[in-house]
Amino acid sequence: MDQGRSEASDSEVHGALGVSEAGAKDPAATDVSRKTTPVVVPEVPPDPTETPIARAAEAAVVGRGERQPWPRPPRCRIMTIANQKGGVGKTTTAVNLAASLAQHGSRVLVVDLDPQGNASTALDVPHHAGIPSVYDVLVDDRPLAEVVRPAGDMPGLYCAPATIDLAGAEIELVPVVARELRLVRALKAFDTSNLDYVLVDCPPSLGLLTLNALVAAEEVLLPIQCEYYALEGVQQLLNTAELVRVNFNPGLHVSTVLLTMYDGRTRLASDVADDVRAHFGTSVLSTIIPRSVRVSEAPSRGQSVITYDPASSGAMAYTEAARELAMQSAGAR
Ligand SMILES: Nc1ncnc2c1ncn2[C@@H]1O[C@H](COP(=O)(O)OP(=O)(O)OP(=O)(O)O)[C@@H](O)[C@H]1O
Ligand SMILES: [Mg+2]
Repeated sequence: MDQGRSEASDSEVHGALGVSEAGAKDPAATDVSRKTTPVVVPEVPPDPTETPIARAAEAAVVGRGERQPWPRPPRCRIMTIANQKGGVGKTTTAVNLAASLAQHGSRVLVVDLDPQGNASTALDVPHHAGIPSVYDVLVDDRPLAEVVRPAGDMPGLYCAPATIDLAGAEIELVPVVARELRLVRALKAFDTSNLDYVLVDCPPSLGLLTLNALVAAEEVLLPIQCEYYALEGVQQLLNTAELVRVNFNPGLHVSTVLLTMYDGRTRLASDVADDVRAHFGTSVLSTIIPRSVRVSEAPSRGQSVITYDPASSGAMAYTEAARELAMQSAGAR
């Protein structure tokens, strides 16, 4: 952790809303054997994107600086990454999409709205007790600008960290007037015109924190893990989003669904992916995120997998998913 970073002044943070470059390519490997029953087959060939040749090719691209900037949206896209089911890849998705978009020239703020602070950890932003955090913004009206910090060494990437205090916010906000509007007001006062994306990482619940995130965003990005029961609970989130749309936020819509932790060795995973596509249609990104050990290792190094191992299948898949998001930005506005 870079403790020195916590000392950055607000003017440094805002003044530094600069732009960088770089990235990766190629979608997730989705070679599914339909001959297997829905059980994991233990012996499979390694993912072809993780061969020495793929790594060498990726390293060559990185070395030659061949990253192209992607289109940036004409105005800031505020996306809430939500699924009340735990452990489906919300935080991993927030962090890696944000890193990849920043690497390709966008300015991205990750708002960590989960008391676990996993996104803050992965982005190497201090979030121990006493650090100015999203809690202060939501509960004490502290300006968001005072808690935003640069994330890791990636230009253009920022994080509003969550401390464990946020766990109390669900209860502390209950008697507060306009308790669902705390985040949207903070974001309006923050002036997002210097940003291309705000990605809000939600906790695994439909409480006041997630409600604030849904009120503040125009888009919902729904990560769905490719496993049994994947669609269970999603309907509850959709119902909540609909209530928010009707009562607070008419523009809110589920713009993007991302299939995560795909295990190509199981027929089950491919069946779930088919079901999700049948249910959500074209809002499902073509890219599927595979299970990749590198993805799960990266946060312990305070890194996204994009920087931790750019040639891994997980990094390449998240880069491709981020590219799809960027292309939506180019096409839709
Ligand atoms: N593609 C992947 N391959 C391997 N492991 C993954 C992948 N995506 C996520 N993981 C791991 O799965 C676990 C859950 O992921 P993550 O924390 O992103 O889920 P979450 O939805 O944010 O969880 P929570 O609901 O607790 O906030 C983490 O340990 C993460 O490192
Ligand atoms: Mg999480």
